[in-house]
Amino acid sequence: FHFAAPQNEPVLNYAPGSPERAALKKQLAAFKAAPADIPMYIGGKEVRTGKTVDIRPPHEIKHKLGHFHMGDASHVQTAIDAALAAQAQWAATPWEQRAAIFLRAAELIATKYRYHMNAATMLGQSKNAYQAEIDSACELIDFLRFNVHYLGEIYKQQPYSPAGIHNRTEYRPLEGFVLAVTPFNFTAIGGNLPTAPAMCGNVVVWKPANTQVFAASMFMQILLEAGLPDGVINLVYAEGPVLGDVCFAHRHFAGIHFTGSTGVFQQMWKTIGGNIDKYRSYPRIVGETGGKDFVVAHASAPVDVVVTALARGAFEYQGQKCSAASRAYLPDSMADEVLEKLKATLGTMKMGTVEDFGNFINAVIDERSFDKISAYIAQAKKDPKVKIIAGGNYSKTDGYFIEPTVIHTTDPKYRTMCEEIFGPVLTVYTYKADQFEETLQLVDSTSDYALTGSILATDRYAIELATRKLVNSAGNFYINDKPTGAVVGQQPFGGARASGTNDKAGSMLNLYRWLNARTIKETM
Ligand code: SER
Repeated sequence: FHFAAPQNEPVLNYAPGSPERAALKKQLAAFKAAPADIPMYIGGKEVRTGKTVDIRPPHEIKHKLGHFHMGDASHVQTAIDAALAAQAQWAATPWEQRAAIFLRAAELIATKYRYHMNAATMLGQSKNAYQAEIDSACELIDFLRFNVHYLGEIYKQQPYSPAGIHNRTEYRPLEGFVLAVTPFNFTAIGGNLPTAPAMCGNVVVWKPANTQVFAASMFMQILLEAGLPDGVINLVYAEGPVLGDVCFAHRHFAGIHFTGSTGVFQQMWKTIGGNIDKYRSYPRIVGETGGKDFVVAHASAPVDVVVTALARGAFEYQGQKCSAASRAYLPDSMADEVLEKLKATLGTMKMGTVEDFGNFINAVIDERSFDKISAYIAQAKKDPKVKIIAGGNYSKTDGYFIEPTVIHTTDPKYRTMCEEIFGPVLTVYTYKADQFEETLQLVDSTSDYALTGSILATDRYAIELATRKLVNSAGNFYINDKPTGAVVGQQPFGGARASGTNDKAGSMLNLYRWLNARTIKETM
């Protein structure tokens, strides 16, 4: 059964006066007027514990959007039981029926719930309309449609059969349940991590970040409306250690699909390693875990290209994309001009709530994040080795607002050149234009991460040199573009080293991890 290659979902632009802007505004107002009471979804049933956690827009912390019901170890256990109870029937469901459910969910988002998904992402995660549209509408829809297509391609891969022998491969799901743990920063990642394994016939326990629950629970309802059988994906809210204690000690833990911090992923891996003799099968461990993403400008790059790549790459969604540019290397021949123009560009970006569509910058996700990011800025302000070129102010009175901040350093190993900050902070180092090759070496050796990076140049030799020298420095490498905004089906996404297992999201490489192939030889 073949599903044709899809095209990317077109991005709506929400221009002033457009019908989509009016519809989105209406949905934002509706969500703000009626506080939501958000349950867990276990075995297809809504579960309310009465132990509620408030949800507030990060840009308007005095407003309550609603609350969700927090689970404990018993709910995680119930979710695993519900998943395992659904397993046999889901694995036996014909592939085209499974696929139809996810394609239906994509269609429901595209045509019926687009503004629900976008408004939930805007309010819950403080994303502007455009950033929400490319995430909770387009990228999520693309993940569903492209993964269905790719999985269909995988199922067609069959071995050679000589005369008298019939060989075949069955792509079975894993035995046991898959745990999906998803981050706040992309609703689409929240959607992809549970659905990619589920599509392959697996049953899933899904725990989103607390700061993603508003949009995640909406997607869960869409999956159920699309016909996902009870128990195939179970949405639970729980503290990380509680979740880990129950899931990683379970004999039928079959794998984890994770996006989040390197520290948490490594801790999970250690726990899983410590329990390895408990499991029925070796668990699949798939994770994307952060970055310290670079932009290197060569002296041949047009200044405006560099300024745009930095302004958009570092500051869209307040720098909270794992792919965001956070360290830049500029040749001394253009550094002053780039920094001046960058400062001017950032000066035009307004900061505030998501309801005012003129705001380019919104809030960072929560107080913990705000405190961490602002501490880096405060320290930089005091350090004589570095200079604040733009921004540098922050306030958490109304929301968690931090100005887009550019730090210039003469020390290429200054801590904000090396450590992941996950916020609107870009650190810039100026190199001598005739030391381009040495600088590439510096780019590679400065960070343990290897997620994304860009080379900006018109000189072909410089492009080739950077592409070769930075071969292991970024799983997604961009020539003459910002390092963010990978599109499903076009730039499969992921990195190696401390950035993850590099099982590219939205590709066959990822789907293969959720399959348990059986080879059958029949002698005629
Ligand atoms: N896929 C996103 C991007 O490329 C990051 O997760 O920006």
